[in-house]
Amino acid sequence: MLILLSFMFLIVAHLFEKDVNQDTGFNLKIRQDLSMSMYHKDGDLILGGILQIHMQSNPLDSTNFREPPASKDCILPIIRYYRHCLAFHFTVEEVNNNAELLPNITLGYRIYDSCAWELRAIHGTLSLLSGRQVPVPNYSCEDRGVLAAFIGDLTSDTTYSISQLSRIFHYPQISYGAMDPIFSDRILFPSFFRMVPNERSQYDAIIQLLRHFGWTWVGILTSADYQGQSAGEELKRAIIQSGGCVEFLAMIPMFGKSQTMFEFVQLIRSSTCSVIVIYSSMVYLLQQFMFEEWRNHEIPPKVWILSANLPIITDFDIGKAFQILNGSIAFSIPKGEIPGFKDFLYSVNPTMFPDDVLLKLIWQINFRCRLPGTKKNRWKYFDRLPNCTGFETLRRLDSSLYDVYNFRFSYNIYTAVYALAHALHQMYTAEPLQGPITLRESLWQRFQPWQLNNFLRNIHFKPSIGNEIFFDEKGDTPTRYDILNCIYLPNGALIQTLVGSFHPSAPSDQQLFINESAIRWQPLFKQTPRSVCSKSCRPGYRKAPKEGSPKCCYDCVPCAEGEFSNATDMEKCLKCPDDQWPMKKRDGCIPRTIEFLSYEDPLGAALAFLAIVLCAITAGTLGIFLKYRETAVVKANNRDLSYILLLSLMLSFLCSLLFIGRPEKLTCLLRQTAFGIIFSVSVSAVLAKTITVVIAFKATKPGSRLREWVGSRVLSFLVLLCSLGEVLICTAWLLISPPFPDYDIQTDAGKMILICNEGSLFAFYSVIGYMGLLAILSFIVAFLARRLPNSFNEAQLITFSMLVFCSVWVSFIPVYLSTKDKYMVTVEIFAMLLSSTGLLSCIFIPKCYIILLRPEMNTREHLIGKQSPSM
Ligand SMILES: *[C@@H]1O[C@H](CO)[C@@H](O)[C@H](O)[C@H]1NC(C)=O
Ligand SMILES: *[C@@H]1O[C@H](CO)[C@@H](O)[C@H](O)[C@H]1NC(C)=O
Ligand SMILES: *[C@@H]1O[C@H](CO)[C@@H](O)[C@H](O)[C@H]1NC(C)=O
Ligand SMILES: *[C@@H]1O[C@H](CO)[C@@H](O)[C@H](O)[C@H]1NC(C)=O
Ligand SMILES: *[C@@H]1O[C@H](CO)[C@@H](O)[C@H](O)[C@H]1NC(C)=O
Ligand SMILES: *[C@@H]1O[C@H](CO)[C@@H](O)[C@H](O)[C@H]1NC(C)=O
Repeated sequence: MLILLSFMFLIVAHLFEKDVNQDTGFNLKIRQDLSMSMYHKDGDLILGGILQIHMQSNPLDSTNFREPPASKDCILPIIRYYRHCLAFHFTVEEVNNNAELLPNITLGYRIYDSCAWELRAIHGTLSLLSGRQVPVPNYSCEDRGVLAAFIGDLTSDTTYSISQLSRIFHYPQISYGAMDPIFSDRILFPSFFRMVPNERSQYDAIIQLLRHFGWTWVGILTSADYQGQSAGEELKRAIIQSGGCVEFLAMIPMFGKSQTMFEFVQLIRSSTCSVIVIYSSMVYLLQQFMFEEWRNHEIPPKVWILSANLPIITDFDIGKAFQILNGSIAFSIPKGEIPGFKDFLYSVNPTMFPDDVLLKLIWQINFRCRLPGTKKNRWKYFDRLPNCTGFETLRRLDSSLYDVYNFRFSYNIYTAVYALAHALHQMYTAEPLQGPITLRESLWQRFQPWQLNNFLRNIHFKPSIGNEIFFDEKGDTPTRYDILNCIYLPNGALIQTLVGSFHPSAPSDQQLFINESAIRWQPLFKQTPRSVCSKSCRPGYRKAPKEGSPKCCYDCVPCAEGEFSNATDMEKCLKCPDDQWPMKKRDGCIPRTIEFLSYEDPLGAALAFLAIVLCAITAGTLGIFLKYRETAVVKANNRDLSYILLLSLMLSFLCSLLFIGRPEKLTCLLRQTAFGIIFSVSVSAVLAKTITVVIAFKATKPGSRLREWVGSRVLSFLVLLCSLGEVLICTAWLLISPPFPDYDIQTDAGKMILICNEGSLFAFYSVIGYMGLLAILSFIVAFLARRLPNSFNEAQLITFSMLVFCSVWVSFIPVYLSTKDKYMVTVEIFAMLLSSTGLLSCIFIPKCYIILLRPEMNTREHLIGKQSPSM
């Protein structure tokens, strides 16, 4: 833990450099030695390494462009990054000891520390190219081996700088940590390879993770560098595209400006989302969480999602500063096995690498002892320490600091060195060297860096443990992401549990695997955290977007009348199918009650009963007429017409039965047409009867030829003719727009009223109109004939009956129009029964009265005689 505290102290020390120097004399600035720091091993072929070992260059020395920016210091040597160097060394040794791989060729290496600073990376690259620590551009003074390829770097910025130089000379470059999508561009970076995936696949991983937990309301923090900004924008777009919303996309401010820092803390504190994605390089985050402001204020619990380009968070334990990240979820490149590396890491000691200044520093800091041979004047702090005993061993270091179990980036260096070794091996097997191979001259002349690219592109090999290693067509290594849960124990120790993984190459529904039960959330979360802008809407409600807010923020409004929503978070309420109706809570549909005038219905039953009774009465009347057909009353005014009228009246009573019961296709077709035709037959018969009266009167006058007409069949033809008009109208109706069964759901909520849709209202009113025309005609004729002296003058009766008939149907229309649903049918039935009854009673009851009760009056003489006086 001492080293962690020292790191923090270092940063603060740089801020207040003078004070610190005065008070403690604690000055860990490492200038000349480390800026020249290089690890090297000679060989026939040299692998150039530019690795980040220090956390960063001094952030406070800002370049002012007036003087050379040369004097930036590397600060914060990271022991876990130091392992990358050791992995480089270890692997090169392993390859050299492997008789199968590159026989008779020795690999060597030169490693420069980039300190996450582009200038340093370029300096290192140039030094490697020119073979001198002080670079001589465009000249190679290398005489201790042939530079074959570059390995580096961890961060994208420095990797980019290296590639600017390496690609000029077509040297292969393999990065072990740069995930920037730009490197997948084969035109810009034809000789670039990396042991990590393109970070774009991580957007999918993050989005699927968000979707898995239903987190639709997130914040994004990025570093204020170019990579962070572009990644942040792209991630934001991707999240929005996937249906989520981003509460804020903020850049982590750089250390030193406390005003912006304060605002930044405020932003996090006041944010309502409980999930924040951090897409930042480590430097920014590290400085950020060391800021006191974080601990002075209560920060509501958040789930932090850490991107895989935050390697340090998984590789480096910075202690209590990061406890705010407790329970966070980190993406990480997968770890790999390096056989024997653990023992090697434990065996490292300063006597093994006597030139390694960094190792000495690490040693002295960690074991708090002074190594012999370190220069006195440079590190006064160490002068006061006791001499080291020589029994110190790295085994004693905490494994979270000096991790010998989780090799992620170290493993990438391991595989990168192996990939180069295999490619070189293939290159030399493909075209064996002529002559004695040990002659550097021949290697020097023969080696062309661009040739190596071809072999590297097609490399396929399997490390002794682990999966096959190869590059895809873009130079990336397809790989999975591990999903880790970071738990900071109260004592500051970091525990990382593997809780899932993401396989970019799997089918999209199998890419993400999360073991939810293995995740331990921040203790303030009682359960799996939720991060939504608005609570989800229950069934029966729908989302109503809020003006000016992202679409994840909405109000829930109940569904409108007649609509429903049966799932949570519905965008729109649905309409029920026509035969259904929303339940009271509007969260489902129930079938509507179906309504029509049925025989079971008391009203329907009563009407049907009435119709049958009336029909029976008519039938009775017909019977009486038939029985007394030879009597004067029956014979008067054309017997046949009376029969026709009575029959049609019977039918019209029966016809009303068609209007009762469930409307079917056939009944709908029959209803109005039958009604129209039967009634027009009745009215025609009445008309014919009226005409008979007129004819009968005229016929009594001597010499009238009309007499021949009386009683003849001609009048029956008149009936036929008049009804034919109605038949034509009905036929046209049926042909053009026939009535059909229909339902009405508008009238009554919750009910579905079965009706017969007339098809054409015009036709319907035509039918009634024609009928009315006939009726009015009869009425007029009858009215004019009402005073005609005649035997048993029927004209008055007919006038009266037509008056009844017309008034029934004239009043029918407004009533019909103003009633709804099944009562429309009732009204029509009622009108039919009433008008028919009117005809029946007005025309036939008086006759029956005479026939049955006053038979003495039922004689021709009486009828004529009765009339004679009035004439
Ligand atoms: C390696 O060198 C040894 C001795 O110089 C020689 O016998 C052997 O054939 C060489 N191997 C290859 C693969 O060139
Ligand atoms: C770099 O070296 C090459 C030959 O190796 C030479 O042709 C070229 O002119 C040099 N470029 C510069 C800028 O010196
Ligand atoms: C440490 O070792 C040096 C010689 O290497 C010796 O001069 C010095 O006295 C020792 N200091 C202590 C504290 O033992
Ligand atoms: C971090 O979270 C774990 C699990 O929820 C909890 O046990 C631990 O105490 C927390 N650490 C701190 C420092 O609060
Ligand atoms: C999930 O995690 C729990 C607790 O760590 C463990 O017991 C279980 O085996 C894991 N399940 C899977 C499928 O990995
Ligand atoms: C909701 O209603 C729709 C339409 O009626 C139906 O397709 C869907 O299956 C229902 N969903 C649920 C969850 O009941």
